[in-house]
Amino acid sequence: TVLVVDFGAQYAQLIARRVREARVYSEIVPSTMPVQEMLAKNPAAIILSGGPSSVYAEGAPRLDREIFESGVPVFGMCYGFQLMATTLGGTVDNTGAREYGRTPLHVSKSGSTLFEGTPDEQSVWMSHGDACSAAPEGFTVTASTDVVPVAAFENDEQKLYGVQHHPEVMHSTYGQQVLEHFLYRGAGLTPSWTTGNVIDEQVALIREQVGTKRAICGLSGGVDSAVAAALVQKAIGSQLTCVYVDHGLMRKDETEQVEKDFVAATGVQLKVVDAEERFLAALAGVSDPEEKRKIIGREFIRVFEQAQVEIIAEAAEGEDVAFLVQGTLYPDVVESGGGTGTANIKSHHNVGGLPEDLEFELVEPLRKLFKDEVRMVGQELGLPDEIVQRQPFPGPGLGIRIVGEVTKDRLDLLREADAIAREELTAAGLDRDIWQCPVVLLADVRSVGVQGDGRTYGHPIVLRPVSSEDAMTADWSRLPYDVLAKISTRITNEVADVNRVVLDVTSKPPGTIEWE
Ligand code: XMP
Repeated sequence: TVLVVDFGAQYAQLIARRVREARVYSEIVPSTMPVQEMLAKNPAAIILSGGPSSVYAEGAPRLDREIFESGVPVFGMCYGFQLMATTLGGTVDNTGAREYGRTPLHVSKSGSTLFEGTPDEQSVWMSHGDACSAAPEGFTVTASTDVVPVAAFENDEQKLYGVQHHPEVMHSTYGQQVLEHFLYRGAGLTPSWTTGNVIDEQVALIREQVGTKRAICGLSGGVDSAVAAALVQKAIGSQLTCVYVDHGLMRKDETEQVEKDFVAATGVQLKVVDAEERFLAALAGVSDPEEKRKIIGREFIRVFEQAQVEIIAEAAEGEDVAFLVQGTLYPDVVESGGGTGTANIKSHHNVGGLPEDLEFELVEPLRKLFKDEVRMVGQELGLPDEIVQRQPFPGPGLGIRIVGEVTKDRLDLLREADAIAREELTAAGLDRDIWQCPVVLLADVRSVGVQGDGRTYGHPIVLRPVSSEDAMTADWSRLPYDVLAKISTRITNEVADVNRVVLDVTSKPPGTIEWE
């Protein structure tokens, strides 16, 4: 394992992903973890991330010098680089030599482990206020910039390396190469970590955790729950029961993909609860977005818990239903401060005549994986592309893509329009270019149009294609006009009561991705 020490910016996750892209397993630890504890994990190498602090600021995160004397190869980036410099006797000061963004780096690579095979002049991503003016004793300076005399250094003998820039950022042209040079040449690691290893390891862990008991998994139609379920199914087979709540707010064919394709691919035992009528009844007359979300959330929990209770009741004597499978991913784990993954959750239900609380232990087989790795695991487990490559879709489904009251007719109409948009985007090969494309029905708006010989008075459909890295921010996708034209023509021709298609050209912020 390569440990990535997180100094409190968003960089650590990106570094961990890049290390894994180099086929070396990595994990993130907070910089507040005592060095003793880091070393006790027996890391093959350690990477120190960037961070927002100045090494001289009061209360700035530090590391015990021992980390550099333990013999474990260490690579410091940005803040990590400056910390390595000051801890080992180099000089870092606030020279006013700030650099932000793309910066030309001058490399003197003779004998350099990190930069070998890369150009003498390369573009890197910088983000720093302080600068290193003298490397620690025994270190060779391997790069500089126009304003920073020491922009990279290394001490091959002690296996210590540092760069002022951010090699993990895409804009550092040779960043991945520099990182791989550290891993393979500096630390002597071999690229052997694969999603196949992950599957074998998780299958063994799940078997050990669950034993002969039973587990339940809620399928949402999304990637994470599907892959988690498939992995647990591989491990414990018929001891797993999946529950799929059909709330009637899914897109066209999505329920069938879960009911048929997913079951066919995994052989999982699936309980489908058809709750469309219940959801529609609960949503009748409601058009406030927050209220709709609350109703959908509340009904979902009730239906799911009812299903759990039924599964428990159906289980044979001595079959303890003790586990709940969840598709928690690594970013959620890191952002919620780590944890061991053995938490219990209590599910308070309201079905008469049964115990007040259902208590489950969680099984979270994806809690060490990033999203793209989850997709690879899903692929390796033989799940269909329609599920594995699916774009994000909100839990409340089309319920929050109808601006206005949700009714069966409106849902059917939106399903048709959405299916056309998805079909055309796929046909144009754009699925990987866009993050997602909500299709929204403005049910309370009508506009005048003309079709055939007659006047129409129909609803607009909004297309909301966005590009994004993580859904926190987004930009509207510049889709080719001919693709937009095709979608527009087909929707107005094929979907009754829709006579206008409009394009949302708002970034996030200020607009959210969804309309409600
Ligand atoms: P917004 O609209 O907040 O959406 O920009 C950000 C991302 O989250 C998705 N989304 C949801 N996902 N349950 C979910 O599982 C929800 O209630 C929900 N609301 C929004 C949205 O599709 C986008 O990817």
